[in-house]
Amino acid sequence: MISIQEDVIAGLLENPKRISSRWFYDEKGDKLFQDIMELPEYYLTRAEFSVLKMYAKDIFSYFTFDKPIQIVELGAGDGKKTRVLFNYLNAENKSFEYIPIDISLNALNRLENALKKEYPGMAIKSIQTDYFSALKKDELQSSKHKLVLFLGSNVGNLNEKDAIEFFKQLHQALKPGDGVLIGFDRTKNPETILAAYNDAAGVTRNFNLNLLTRLNRELGANFELKNWEHQPKYDIERKSALSFIRSTKEQSVTFEKASKTIHFNEGELIHTEISRKFDLEDIQNLASKTGFKLASNFDHSMPLYTDSLWLA
Ligand code: AVJ
Repeated sequence: MISIQEDVIAGLLENPKRISSRWFYDEKGDKLFQDIMELPEYYLTRAEFSVLKMYAKDIFSYFTFDKPIQIVELGAGDGKKTRVLFNYLNAENKSFEYIPIDISLNALNRLENALKKEYPGMAIKSIQTDYFSALKKDELQSSKHKLVLFLGSNVGNLNEKDAIEFFKQLHQALKPGDGVLIGFDRTKNPETILAAYNDAAGVTRNFNLNLLTRLNRELGANFELKNWEHQPKYDIERKSALSFIRSTKEQSVTFEKASKTIHFNEGELIHTEISRKFDLEDIQNLASKTGFKLASNFDHSMPLYTDSLWLA
């Protein structure tokens, strides 16, 4: 997995400048994202929670449980939505082992501790890494029957090319009959989407700008927070919510640990996140292009959100 210093400096030397959204999730970022999930404007988490609750039975009807199934979760976070699935499986006496994967060690530790208390005896093994590196881990390469969860619209953080590459590689790691359940935020009224990334309370702003605080601490950078602002936008053509950090004046920032100084013009943007939205056609195309068979779409209607079950 690439280091934060190497990745951030490389991104800031590009034109236009960018920082990968994977670096949002330090301890403060984890907390801010949990706050985001509670916001009235951020409909995604609640929509998916309802889908999983409503369709847990249908989702698992595609799987056999003669041997314990391995549930691998990419970007597990606080596992709030996943508990809906655990509760269903436990009630049905279906046995499973759980492999949560996340970029944040802090989130994983909290999740593992919480689950061990709430579900004594649950088989759990957490792995800290990014999505692409996860594919190379033994747990993903094993021949055990698997359901891979990629919930929360995390797939939206991958651009089209990376998403295709990612699912192709995932398909190669899986066996026939294994599944992937993917949470897709659907295209809808742009105002509704933009509001989810530009909440009135400013939590998303704090989440975005927390990146700079993290770089100050971990890379010895000297961003002055008052000279930067949160700038979200919804790009209709790309069907994507885009987040930027905008430099409000001409300035330079030195990264002491990397011995690098980066110059920013007034109004210059650092692209920090893409959150893609999907039509039904986009979902079907992504499955077809990467070798998967779309088994079923489970929808929440207002606002639209789909959990799509694919089989390898
Ligand atoms: C965790 C990637 C699903 O893109 O909607 C929320 C992160 N960023 N608000 C998303 C996020 C700003 C979120 N994901």
